[in-house]
Amino acid sequence: MKELPQNLLKKLQDREANDSLRRLLQQSNLIDFSSNDYLGFARQNKLQDIADSLVSHNNLNGATGSRLLSGNHNLYATAESTIAQFHNQESALIFNSGYNANIGFFSSVPQRGDVVFYDELIHASIRDGLAMGLAKKFNFKHNNFLDLETKVNRWKTTNTGAVFVVTESVFSMDGDSPDLVALASFCDSNNTYLIVDEAHALGVLGGAGGLVQALEIQNSVFAQIITFGKALGCHGAAVLGSEALKNYLVNFARSLIYTTALPPHTVALIQAGYTLLTEETEHLTKLQNNISYFKSNLINLGLNSIFIPSNSAIHCCIVEGVSKVKKMASQLQQQGFDVKPILSPTVPLGKERLRFCLHSYNTASEIETVLKLVSELVNL
Ligand SMILES: Cc1ncc(COP(=O)(O)O)c(C=O)c1O
Repeated sequence: MKELPQNLLKKLQDREANDSLRRLLQQSNLIDFSSNDYLGFARQNKLQDIADSLVSHNNLNGATGSRLLSGNHNLYATAESTIAQFHNQESALIFNSGYNANIGFFSSVPQRGDVVFYDELIHASIRDGLAMGLAKKFNFKHNNFLDLETKVNRWKTTNTGAVFVVTESVFSMDGDSPDLVALASFCDSNNTYLIVDEAHALGVLGGAGGLVQALEIQNSVFAQIITFGKALGCHGAAVLGSEALKNYLVNFARSLIYTTALPPHTVALIQAGYTLLTEETEHLTKLQNNISYFKSNLINLGLNSIFIPSNSAIHCCIVEGVSKVKKMASQLQQQGFDVKPILSPTVPLGKERLRFCLHSYNTASEIETVLKLVSELVNL
């Protein structure tokens, strides 16, 4: 076996020295304040049962090829039409993951001469897609549309290419949301294409359909990215938009073209997830009650000044310093709560945080106890 080159070893040693080396950990049996299974679908036998019955009519288990060759089995068409209808959109195109959807979309849609303005806290998958494309890209300050407007206006004085604006409806490492109505209206009046990544909003905000749908701004949005590995409890993602956009992506999104399709069972799980979203709305009610209960406990314990304001299932407590946040997370874990520390480079240095993901299945007493522990630990 060849050794890792010295310069790469050095990068690992630097991470170790900064106390920020990432490791693959075993799944724990602790009380879940960490997974993205917001509605508990991943724990539901019913999701599996529906998917099993959908695939039983299909003689294939494996994907067998890319979607453009042999992999586009029947379940894709049914699932894509269910998804488009559910979200009140013209079309849906399933990708193998949110990461794949974002690199496929952002590397192929904005062209040379175009520009993309993205929120400075945008997900790594969007940055990676933009890095693979030929358009220029600039960030704007987090949720700051004045900054966006200044930058768009400056760009437009000397350029004529298309202008794209991209944001998330729930920021994955902050849990907060932009004022999407204001942003949509800005994009409409400035003739720019708005793209919203709804990875953490699907199943959580609005009537489970995400924020764009809840605010009824679909007509102002060029594309939505939704992912199925979070509230839907399974895997995969889709781009929602016009039929022409779907056609374009099928022809030019390399992460769709040059990869093996999802196997039938995975697509059946996505379909089953939508059945549960439609038929079992009690999970969303429980999640929303837990979000309200978590927020009222933050107020009662005087913790809201250190938590980022959020109405989503993600709530983050800023704890500056890698060692400090890691120590706090490990103390919470020792008390039985799976709460993860989030470190640089995922978040900026000095903005380390404890990230709490709330679920339909968390109990009131779990929420009370974990927040009491946080308040004791921050006051130590
Ligand atoms: C905002 C956002 N977009 C995209 C992704 C990628 O989705 P997936 O996990 O399906 O690759 C994530 C996942 O963490 C995310 O948080």
